[in-house]
Amino acid sequence: MMLRAFDKRWVLVLLAAGMLIPPALAQDRRTEQAIKHRRAAFTLMATYVNRLVQTAEGQRPFDARLTTADARVVAQLSQLPWEGFIEGSERGDTRAREDIWLDDDKFKAYAADLQRQSLTLVTVTEAGDLKRFKATLVEMRNTCSACHKAYRKD
Ligand code: HEC
Repeated sequence: MMLRAFDKRWVLVLLAAGMLIPPALAQDRRTEQAIKHRRAAFTLMATYVNRLVQTAEGQRPFDARLTTADARVVAQLSQLPWEGFIEGSERGDTRAREDIWLDDDKFKAYAADLQRQSLTLVTVTEAGDLKRFKATLVEMRNTCSACHKAYRKD
């Protein structure tokens, strides 16, 4: 269908306002948002994991209530990055390896490990069990490293 000159002008106005997005551009934007989403989730997760590490190292007090609150945030954040790994998002402003999309099961298994360990972390901090807190934190950080080694560049 041909657009009349008047309609064309509106299309340009809406395009400029970002309200009407051609399909190819919409796909680019979706990919870009997905990458931003997962990276933001990881960044926040690392912030809270670092707080837990500081607690384990004695730079912050091991207070069952406060430490449990931090552990809960990690458990919640551990749900978030994965929805950002959409098809096509192996390209762009990302350090993710293409293998994620080729070897999906192993990637998901690491994500599941992280979620399980972060929940254990909540349980042991609630119980005020410093020894198990430290041990679980080590396990969880090993999962971060293992997944990064397999699926993140450098
Ligand atoms: C299932 C795999 C997996 C697990 C588990 C995992 N990560 Fe990652 N992480 C990735 C991938 C893949 C990237 C690269 C994302 C990108 O650049 O698009 C990443 C990126 C990051 C980044 C960089 C964010 C940025 O600025 O781009 C941080 C920080 C990070 N992860 C922290 C953690 C921490 C802390 C844990 C454990 C508590 C963890 N990750 C667990 C796969 C994982």
